[in-house]
Amino acid sequence: MAEELQISGTSREEKYKTLLPQIDSLLEGETDIVANAANIAAALRQTFGFFWVGFYFVKNNELVLGPFQGDIACTRIQKGRGVCGTSWEKRETILVEDVDAFPGHIACSSLSKSEIVVPVYKNSEVIAVIDVDSDKLNDFSEIDKIYLEQIALRWSR
Ligand code: SME
Repeated sequence: MAEELQISGTSREEKYKTLLPQIDSLLEGETDIVANAANIAAALRQTFGFFWVGFYFVKNNELVLGPFQGDIACTRIQKGRGVCGTSWEKRETILVEDVDAFPGHIACSSLSKSEIVVPVYKNSEVIAVIDVDSDKLNDFSEIDKIYLEQIALRWSR
């Protein structure tokens, strides 16, 4: 495992490209999903300074807060509720440019302005979602979708 993250590049895509192999190293030889989720959340926060980044795990048919970096957050989210529950129900990544314009958005923090939620699959079941929040409007793009989906795949395998 790397001692420290070495992130180069200025664009978000360049940073994701240098981060991905380091996430592979972080996960290598460790099978504990909580430990790995914790390191992924920290690596994303450290690399991009995201306002909030974390995991919600599917447990007994609801989402339950897992490892995260950022301010305290809602602990349970029902299927189909908020951006996280909608991503789980629809089994797709949801990119929200402006959280105030997303019907049913759950505001854990009033400072959160845009958000992306990526489902994580195991044996084609959604087992978790990765949620990233920004305090800037329209902060996420297809680039985040592509790389966060890659990170989700690595975490669940
Ligand atoms: N905004 C999310 C809730 C989780 S927090 O952002 C950490 C949602 O609408 O599902």
